[in-house]
Amino acid sequence: MINRSEIDRRKTFAIISHPDAGKTTLTEKLLLFGGAINTAGAVKRNKINQTSKSDFMEIEKQRGISVATSVMAFNYGDKRINILDTPGHKDFAEDTYRTLTAVDSVILVIDSVKGVEEQTQKLMEVCRMRNTPVIIFINKMDREGKDVYDIMEEIENILKISVTPLTWPIGQGHSFKGVYDIYNEELNLFEPNKTKISEPKIKVKNLEVSSLSEFLPIPLINHLRDDIELVKGVFDPYNTELYNEGLLAPVFFGSAINNFGVSELLETFINIAPSPSSHEAVERTVFADEDTFTGFVFKIHANLDPKHRDRIAFLRICSGNFERHKFYYHSRLDKKLRFSNPLDFMANEKNIIETAWPGDVIGLYDSGNFKIGDTITEGEPLHFKGIPSFSPEIFKEMENKDPFKAKQLEKGIRQLTEEGLAQLFIQQPGNRKIIGTVGELQFEVISFRLEHEYGAKCDFRPLNIHKATWVTAQSKKELENFAQRRSSYVARDKENRLVFLASNDWDLQSTRTTFPELDFHFTSELENQKNKTVK
Ligand code: G4P
Repeated sequence: MINRSEIDRRKTFAIISHPDAGKTTLTEKLLLFGGAINTAGAVKRNKINQTSKSDFMEIEKQRGISVATSVMAFNYGDKRINILDTPGHKDFAEDTYRTLTAVDSVILVIDSVKGVEEQTQKLMEVCRMRNTPVIIFINKMDREGKDVYDIMEEIENILKISVTPLTWPIGQGHSFKGVYDIYNEELNLFEPNKTKISEPKIKVKNLEVSSLSEFLPIPLINHLRDDIELVKGVFDPYNTELYNEGLLAPVFFGSAINNFGVSELLETFINIAPSPSSHEAVERTVFADEDTFTGFVFKIHANLDPKHRDRIAFLRICSGNFERHKFYYHSRLDKKLRFSNPLDFMANEKNIIETAWPGDVIGLYDSGNFKIGDTITEGEPLHFKGIPSFSPEIFKEMENKDPFKAKQLEKGIRQLTEEGLAQLFIQQPGNRKIIGTVGELQFEVISFRLEHEYGAKCDFRPLNIHKATWVTAQSKKELENFAQRRSSYVARDKENRLVFLASNDWDLQSTRTTFPELDFHFTSELENQKNKTVK
């Protein structure tokens, strides 16, 4: 029987940001608050230096670190918090998008100096596609940053989400004095390099000068009073329903490195962030409190030890109760599997577990059974939706350098693309393999891993392709006609779906005009996509 309180006490989320906004620092502070780690610096930097020349050892280190920090679970009060880590490097953005399908909410970190950045925008698009509830943390308030009203406007205009500040900063940079908690009417004064994890709050009624002058200069008190009046007039009050629908984001200000503003964030997160509720499968909606177990694989990690070819598949539990040693049903393979050593990632350590609940992420040793997106159940043939592929940005043709190793190359590239490292498009005739990635780094990873794990060697030849779009039509005949007429520019993805490879925006537009009966989609999640087709 499902235990409702086990579901309600779980909060599964990801911290997302443009690189360098402070995601790692905030993660570390949350773990400190949660008692999962004792010292700062315990969370390794899960990122590759943006400026460093791409260096393979760096990638290997990154892979090692990210296995360890893929999921960080800890107990906080009576809650169990599951933080799903997302890679910081932009070249691994697809990994992040997929991880977002496994969370119930996100905390979005924005650098107050830079405001809304490119990667923030893309991540928010993915959150919007899934109506994921978002809490925003404006970080680095200890630095001279952008005007906070401008940041609010950027968020609303660029990220297309309404905001409601729950705290408001008093000054910024050198003159940053702290934050005012609008709803609890409390003042939290800033002290740089705080080592304490919980800050004493000062209760203030109506922002009266008499009760504040002890802590703040009078001009700042007046300024704060004006700000709060304006904030209350301009922004809608907080509304849990709108937050849960992903339409309204509560906003906090602070400085993660200084441990400042993090406790308000965590307390509010605990109170409002949703617990596991439901997931859409192609066949039906699956609710977390159903008795039978279901889950899906959103990430696969190759084992770092080349002697062991096995991989770890990360499975998000959607409903029911997972039990060690029990037989479960793998829908895609129509096959029963049993897991003897399922892993849990409590307090940053891998442990074998006996049982797990909705919201939890478990690691399953995999000898090649899993692909990203696979669904596991107790027997019902379900297929969870919602792990879309986006168009890659760089396309190269893969050429085999060793004809005697063609089979190894074929197997290797299939497995690596199943892990989600890159997208594979096959073009006929000739079985040409076109690899699509978000960044150059993946090509290095692919070459290295093909050689070291599969004994195959390859070269990559750059192609003049700008975007891949998935093509659909009312009739098969229309699709076949298109595939024939534009054969040099079409390929099939790993699910055998037709993809048009446009060489530039103009090419895409003119093809659309020539074939008005076709729909061109920016992502592979084709259902309910009418509004996302290329117009
Ligand atoms: P990321 O995971 O989002 O990529 O960012 P990360 O936490 O690694 O932070 C990026 C840089 O910003 C780090 O500096 C970090 O110390 C700094 N930082 C984080 N929060 C704050 C803050 O509240 N105020 C200020 N002023 N800086 C902050 P770094 O020099 O790149 O790394 P490190 O040498 O400090 O490790």
